[in-house]
Amino acid sequence: MPIKVVPPAKTKSAPRRVPAPKKTGKKAAEPVTLGDWLKHAIKRYHKTGATLGQVATNAHDEALYLLLRTLAMPLDSKPALLRRKLTGAEVMAVEHMLHRRLEERIPAAYLTREAFLGEYRFYVDERVIIPRSYFLEIIPQQLDAWLPDPAKVKRVVDVCTGSGCLAILLAHHFPKAKVDAIDLSPDALDVARMNVRNHKLQGRVKLRHSDVFDAVPKVKYDVILSNPPYEPSAHCERLPAEFHREPRMALDGGEDGLDIIRKFLRQARDRLQPHGVVLIEVGGLQAAMDREFPGLDLYWMHTADGSNCVCLIQADRLRAWKG
Ligand SMILES: C[S@@+](CC[C@H](N)C(=O)[O-])C[C@H]1O[C@@H](n2cnc3c(N)ncnc32)[C@H](O)[C@@H]1O
Repeated sequence: MPIKVVPPAKTKSAPRRVPAPKKTGKKAAEPVTLGDWLKHAIKRYHKTGATLGQVATNAHDEALYLLLRTLAMPLDSKPALLRRKLTGAEVMAVEHMLHRRLEERIPAAYLTREAFLGEYRFYVDERVIIPRSYFLEIIPQQLDAWLPDPAKVKRVVDVCTGSGCLAILLAHHFPKAKVDAIDLSPDALDVARMNVRNHKLQGRVKLRHSDVFDAVPKVKYDVILSNPPYEPSAHCERLPAEFHREPRMALDGGEDGLDIIRKFLRQARDRLQPHGVVLIEVGGLQAAMDREFPGLDLYWMHTADGSNCVCLIQADRLRAWKG
């Protein structure tokens, strides 16, 4: 069986601290093989209380991923590889990587300069949040059911695109559509440009520098989607060190988390086709959204982990909304 490490999608705000280890009193033998180093790394994740949730949800998966990448070994290697002894140079490389991850608290994805949404791989660095969106399951499994003819979708937009990951998922899902990808951060757009090029989508994905829709021509879209910054500012302050490595403007949604969402909904109203839909991912803000936008009758989409944190709004509701 291969050692398969494809980091799953996560919420933006579900940091998970690795619990401290139980003391056994025994002194551990020096690690020699890759398997020894994996056990050693997991113990260090526990000892240092590193926070997970950006790349993987458990120390084993993240440690294995980092070891394989550091040693330039395939992620789908066979378990027999765990018996391989590490060379002196490899040990130094692994020690260095573990130090940066566990003592300096740099997220694994920034160390390896990559992140996955399902099978799709994206370049990432500190200029963008690490992709972990529920749209990974919503786009392929549920979106089509809300559209009169998915094959005829012509224009879609990803507002707050960051690394461009969701714009790219949309472009793959709607192969005939033009995709706009909006972000206010020029740094994020530079990263998105690399990803659009890597996915050979320059012909269909257009990057736009804009505060929500302010600088975007008024065209009508079939699908308007966003995974905006939605953490209440005070919550951002309390996030663990690993999350402070991500751009603050990718997380901070203002005092109650709803600043960008309010603007987004007001501007989306004039840009949606009569048959179109708006989708927003909002983390833990469901109740706040229902309270703030009762007239929109938000439909909460089902997600596999039950967090149901993506809402959908149809065009007639949005047009009738007086907000
Ligand atoms: C949570 S990240 C989402 C990135 C990406 N869509 C994803 O799912 O990984 C939010 C993004 O919104 C951008 N952003 C923040 N304020 C914005 C604004 N007023 N207008 C447009 N983009 C904004 C940030 O730069 C950041 O890249």
